[in-house]
Amino acid sequence: MAMDVYGLLGNPVGHSLSPPMHEAAYDELGLEARYVTFEPDEDDLTDAIGGADALGIAGLNVTIPFKQAALEIVAPEDLATRIGAVNTIDFSGSGPPTGYNTDAVGALRALRDHEVDVEGAHAVVVGAGGAGRAIAFGLADAGATVAIANRTEQKARALADEVPRATGHGLADLEELVGNADVLVNATSVGMEEDATPVPADALHGELAVLDAVYRPLETRLLRDAADAGATTVDGAWMLLYQGVEAFEIWTGRDAPVGVMNEALRSRL
Ligand code: ATR
Repeated sequence: MAMDVYGLLGNPVGHSLSPPMHEAAYDELGLEARYVTFEPDEDDLTDAIGGADALGIAGLNVTIPFKQAALEIVAPEDLATRIGAVNTIDFSGSGPPTGYNTDAVGALRALRDHEVDVEGAHAVVVGAGGAGRAIAFGLADAGATVAIANRTEQKARALADEVPRATGHGLADLEELVGNADVLVNATSVGMEEDATPVPADALHGELAVLDAVYRPLETRLLRDAADAGATTVDGAWMLLYQGVEAFEIWTGRDAPVGVMNEALRSRL
């Protein structure tokens, strides 16, 4: 059997952790496969995806700046359509390639890995950008009620109009929302560049599970505050891991070797 080729389309993708994470899984399961990165020009996305299909590439991940545009080029799953972004393409069918969004499921699996029950939970998502959209739809699909809080309140309200059982808020509501919540997710970029948090530490409590989508650094101020409050903490590497695990399982139809992929990822963070 010929070698299977998988890859990542993005620009830039030089520092991506996906190649070592996926190749660790291929090694573990003895699969003849490679995972490589591609940086097409923005204008060339349609040609890049069509070319990948023609060359027999088995699957692609898609990242910034191509996630939204990819939606128009592939046959997207319903969840990807609602999120408005595709991050995983599967070329294995006979028809047009199928587009998935594994960011949403990645967040859910990261929480479930930490024994967090999402069904019926009161969840607060901070952020209404690309990550916030995916996570809010994922949580709602899994049966949570979702309060979305964003610096630009109007964006939170607009997103809440699309997500089932969701409400939209400004950051000023966070104290009260978080006080009554079971699950809190940071889907903003706050905590990446500086040691800052979008959530007042006073609002955190011991009944809460906190997922931070930020993974550089792994230990954010939000997660430190959450640990101090006795909350369950889930760092951003878990979400990165499980979006990759989900993509691997879509592509190969096999259970991913999660522990090996986690080790490959964490040893590089
Ligand atoms: P991503 O695709 O990673 O979600 P994005 O779409 O640019 O990136 O969204 C960034 C998110 O972080 C937004 O929710 C943004 O809030 P605004 O919609 O008000 O811009 C949020 N964000 C960025 N910097 C922030 C800050 N200093 N304080 C609060 N929120 C911030």
